[in-house]
Amino acid sequence: MLKAEAFEVAKVREDFPILKRKVHGKRLVYLDNAATTQKPQLVVDALVDFYTRYNSNVHRSVHTLGEEATAAYEAARSKTAKFVGADPKGLVFVRGTTEATNLVRFAWGEKNVKKGDVLVATLMEHHSNIVPWQLLARSKGATLKYVGLNPDGTLDMGQLEDLLREAPRLVAVAHCSNVLGTINEVSAICAMAKKVGATTVVDGAQSVPHMPVDIGAVGADFYAFSGHKMLAPTGVGALAARKELLEEMDPFQSGGEMIKEVFEDHSTWNDVPYKFEAGTVNIADAIGLGTAVDYLSSIGMERVRKHEVALLDYALRALSEVKGVKIYGPPDPARRGGVVSFNYADVHPHDLATILDEEGVAIRSGHHCAQLLMRWLDVPATARASFHVYNSYDDVDALTAGLHKAGKLFRL
Ligand SMILES: Cc1ncc(COP(=O)(O)O)c(C=O)c1O
Repeated sequence: MLKAEAFEVAKVREDFPILKRKVHGKRLVYLDNAATTQKPQLVVDALVDFYTRYNSNVHRSVHTLGEEATAAYEAARSKTAKFVGADPKGLVFVRGTTEATNLVRFAWGEKNVKKGDVLVATLMEHHSNIVPWQLLARSKGATLKYVGLNPDGTLDMGQLEDLLREAPRLVAVAHCSNVLGTINEVSAICAMAKKVGATTVVDGAQSVPHMPVDIGAVGADFYAFSGHKMLAPTGVGALAARKELLEEMDPFQSGGEMIKEVFEDHSTWNDVPYKFEAGTVNIADAIGLGTAVDYLSSIGMERVRKHEVALLDYALRALSEVKGVKIYGPPDPARRGGVVSFNYADVHPHDLATILDEEGVAIRSGHHCAQLLMRWLDVPATARASFHVYNSYDDVDALTAGLHKAGKLFRL
């Protein structure tokens, strides 16, 4: 099998100190990147630099530290926006994808969804792109309907077309599934939704970290992603939207910094995106996200994607050669992101993950916050290996060797 690398993985691995640690005396093989990624030293250094050199609040103090912190925080916003083809004035820093969809639920949904409206999500969504719409539908007397899947794990576009005939108020869809890896045709979906007047929410939690994304070209009204899945610290992510759309919306959280003026009986709102960044924001982690963006840009997202497609291709072939392994999602690596979900005969995925952990191999097991999808797959859980820039062919080999060991233990 061809093992060409899109860039020098061994060199990239040196940037991630955690990869030097051993687990149960074995080399750490970290394949749980869809849950969260490891951080390069550069990102850790950016946090230390902030706290040791210019820690200060932003957008308020005129002293040197305050100005430096504000400049770094806003530079992080500009870099992040550029990275995903968004307008910095329409990029709100949030805690992550979950907070972004909740922001849309409250700030857009409460104002725009009415009794009798239809909302549309898909059966492959993460709970963070389902539960907010369930709660919105419940509070407004609207109905939430789902687009089903084809047997290969792609979206049933015919069913989407049928649902669009009901003129839904909202269409919520993942750019890339965190379980099946399916890359959805989000530009086409957003264009179709727009034609019937629906507002679109695209969950980019598994796309932005792994492939070039141009939110402008996707054409989504709202696009959400999490920093911690793209080499940045936890606790920061972004919601990108058109500036005008954000301007029309009500605030999400309220208090300091999101206001322009406060009177006894009412207040006026700050300009966007600040209207949606109430209180003291997550300054250090946003700066860390900007540094992660620099790091990923220095490799180049085209090359990141190329690397993951090659690893995915290798992993799909290797796993399909293990008798008893069932892989979920589209068979073509070009149609999927860097995640492989699978089951091994009737071994519970938690048992599999425990055996692999003894070999130093970290995978995820469980329902992956996608219980509707688990029900559609008719399984309680799956095992999942997911890749990022520091994973190598050797990591896939370690996974396969671990599976063979599990097979022996379970006499498969
Ligand atoms: C597709 C998808 N959407 C949303 C989320 C939620 O992201 P966060 O927990 O960072 O809010 C995840 C995280 O696993 C995800 O994979």
